[in-house]
Amino acid sequence: MTASPTDDTSVAATAPGDVVDPAPRPHATAEEVEAARKDTKLAQVLYHDWEAETYDDKWSISYDERCIDYAKGRFDAVAGDLPLPYERALELGCGTGFFLLNLMQGGVAKTGSVTDLSPGMVKVALRNAEHLGLEVDGRVADAERIPYDDNTFDLVVGHAVLHHIPDVEQSLREVLRVLKPGGRFVFAGEPSTVGNFYARWLGRATWEATTTVTKLPFLADWRRPQEELDESSRAAALEAVVDIHTFDPTDLENMAKSAGGTEVRAITEEFAAALLGWPVRTFEAAVPPEKLGWGWAKFAFGGFKTLSWVDEKVLKHIVPRNFFYNVMITGVKPEAKK
Ligand SMILES: C[S@@+](CC[C@H](N)C(=O)[O-])C[C@H]1O[C@@H](n2cnc3c(N)ncnc32)[C@H](O)[C@@H]1O
Repeated sequence: MTASPTDDTSVAATAPGDVVDPAPRPHATAEEVEAARKDTKLAQVLYHDWEAETYDDKWSISYDERCIDYAKGRFDAVAGDLPLPYERALELGCGTGFFLLNLMQGGVAKTGSVTDLSPGMVKVALRNAEHLGLEVDGRVADAERIPYDDNTFDLVVGHAVLHHIPDVEQSLREVLRVLKPGGRFVFAGEPSTVGNFYARWLGRATWEATTTVTKLPFLADWRRPQEELDESSRAAALEAVVDIHTFDPTDLENMAKSAGGTEVRAITEEFAAALLGWPVRTFEAAVPPEKLGWGWAKFAFGGFKTLSWVDEKVLKHIVPRNFFYNVMITGVKPEAKK
């Protein structure tokens, strides 16, 4: 169903016989948060419903040339050189729609279905799609049990979602079930095991350094209000519950093959770019946003682009692939046997 952006209580239509998706719950109770510490899927819903309305700002997500190029660039890196567009695409763990909506704008697919465990995210993704005039429907759905028929889609995509799913192989089996024979899957933005280690370490060190230094009286206006810092720390605690996996690229390839995929191929990106990107993002979260002007944005984006170029042209040839942060994987559903 296509949701109305003014519908505040549900992401689904309510015609007789329709499945009604649950409503977003952006303000979890203390009891729910406590229960979520032991229930990863409840944690996903609470954490991402809470984040949904501010997610695009937090991650500098836009639906213009900058993010179209980024999304299409990731797609092409692992699955380029193939005829476009795909007729019908599905996204798992769509969040606000960053990957599929930008891929559709970049000419990768004609129509799309966005799904996510978080009702709040599906609602925002559908609202974004409507603003962009894209033909997209959406469902609240668990990637381990995709609510679509066999052989439905030409393309299934996901960005930064596999590492949240408890049983990744089960989810990949579901992806292959809903793909048409010959259909392709593309997942990007997954943390490598080595990359996650240095990203977390750099993030923690930047957070500690920034929140300590800004206690100095002459830097007081660089310090965010204590309650906002406390809220970020609580969010970080839930983040530890929702981030379940990191991936070795070869292990992920083997998993996709044992789920039934053929032509499976993983590649990795972002080493120097990640070493800059994680401290930059953490610093941005630790100081009041109004302190960082246009000059900072130019430095952050320009620096990331330059170091991505260094990664691609130089470091890729000398650094082992599992040192890069961002793992991407593609594969194909085998054609039916005659
Ligand atoms: C890190 S966010 C990425 C969102 C978006 N793909 C992007 O790149 O901006 C991960 C998303 O996966 C969703 N998610 C987590 N576990 C899921 C599951 N089992 N099935 C479907 N979606 C899930 C979360 O609710 C969240 O929206």
